[in-house]
Amino acid sequence: MGRFYQTAIRPILFKMDPEVAHERAIAALRLAGQMAPARGLIQALFGAQARHPTELFGLRFPNRVGLAAGMDKNGEAVPALAAMGFGFLEVGTVTPKGQPGNPKPRMFRYPAEHALINRMGFNNKGADFMAWKLGKSYPRGGRKVPIGVNIGKAKATPLEEAVLDYQASFRILASHADFFVLNVSSPNTQGLRDLQEKEKLAEICRLLKLEADAYTRKHPDHELPVLLKIAPDCSWEQIEDILEVLLAVRFSGIIATNTTIARPGVFSSVHQAGGLSGAPLTDRATDVIRFIHDETGGKLPIIGVGGIMDIDSAKAKLDAGASLIQVYTGFVYGGPGFAKFLVRGLDRS
Ligand SMILES: Cc1cc2nc3c(=O)[nH]c(=O)nc-3n(C[C@H](O)[C@H](O)[C@H](O)COP(=O)(O)O)c2cc1C
Repeated sequence: MGRFYQTAIRPILFKMDPEVAHERAIAALRLAGQMAPARGLIQALFGAQARHPTELFGLRFPNRVGLAAGMDKNGEAVPALAAMGFGFLEVGTVTPKGQPGNPKPRMFRYPAEHALINRMGFNNKGADFMAWKLGKSYPRGGRKVPIGVNIGKAKATPLEEAVLDYQASFRILASHADFFVLNVSSPNTQGLRDLQEKEKLAEICRLLKLEADAYTRKHPDHELPVLLKIAPDCSWEQIEDILEVLLAVRFSGIIATNTTIARPGVFSSVHQAGGLSGAPLTDRATDVIRFIHDETGGKLPIIGVGGIMDIDSAKAKLDAGASLIQVYTGFVYGGPGFAKFLVRGLDRS
C-alpha cells in the first residue's frame, strides 16, 4: 500500500494545493469514520497492534506511534484515524472560540526535501465544536486509542491573558480528553513562544495543573495528565528553565518538538515564513529529546516528534529517550499505511 499510495494516490493529491488536499483528506476520513464497513476496511488494511502495548501516565497505548497535532485540528476524523494504525491521536490546536487562522496560502510542500512549511495560525472551529464532535463520534469509555487535546492561545487574546484561554479550553474539553497538551511553541501566533519564558510558563503550568487536579478530585476515575509542547529553537538554557518548571509543577511529560523557524541546508535560500517540518527537522528534534532525557535522568516522559520519516528516524527518537513518538509530515509523504509500517518496523528492530 505504501508504494501504491506513493505512485498512484500521492501524485494526485500533490497536484492539488496542499491545504485543499488536506481538507479533502480530512473530509473523506470524516465520512469513512461514520460508516462501520469503511472503518472496518481501514482497520483491516492499516490497523497496527504492537507486540507490547505501552503504559504511560496511567494510559494504555496499543502502540507507540501517534498522530501529531495539526492534522485533525477539530477532532473531526478521529474514528477513521484511530483505525489507521495510530496508537494515539493528538487533536487541535484548539482555541476557546473558533478563528480563521492566517491568510492563504499558508501550507507549502517541498517534496525533494521531504518537508513542509506552514503558517496556519491555529485555524479551528473552537473548543465547543471539538467537545461536541468528540462526545458524539469517539466518546471516552469505548476508546481504542487515547486522545490528547492540544490547546492554544487565540490570536485576539493579549499575551498577558493567555492563561485564560488555556483554562477556558481545558474546562470545555476536560471530559473528552485522555490527556492535554499546552502548546506554547507554534511559530505562527505572534508572541506565543514568549510563553516559554520561565516566569510566564510557570504561571500557566501551575494554573493548568491546579485545574487538572481539581477535575480529578471531582472525577476520581478520570486522571488528566498535562504535557507541554516545546519548540526546537529553544536554547539549552531555555530548555533547562522549562524542565525546572515542569518538574516543579509535576507535569506529566513533554512533547519535543514543534516545527522550526530555522532554515537549515538548502532552506537557507527559501524565503517562506512559517514552521518547517519533516526531514530537515529530524536531527535537531532528536538532539532536543536526548538533552531532555539526560537533564532529567529520564524522570520526565517524552513524546518525540519532528522529522520521523522512516524506521531509523523513529528508532533514533526512542533511543534518545522518547517513550512515545508522533508523526505529521512523514504521514503526508508516507500515506495511510505509515503508522503500521513504523509499528511493524519498530517491533522487528
Ligand atoms: C500543516 C501543519 C500544521 C500543524 N499544526 C499544529 C498545531 O496546530 N499545533 C501543534 O502543536 N503543532 C502543529 N504542527 C506541528 C506538528 O504537530 C509537529 O510537531 C511538527 O510538524 C514536527 O513533526 P513532523 O516533522 O513529523 O511533521 C503542525 C505541523 C504542520 C506540518
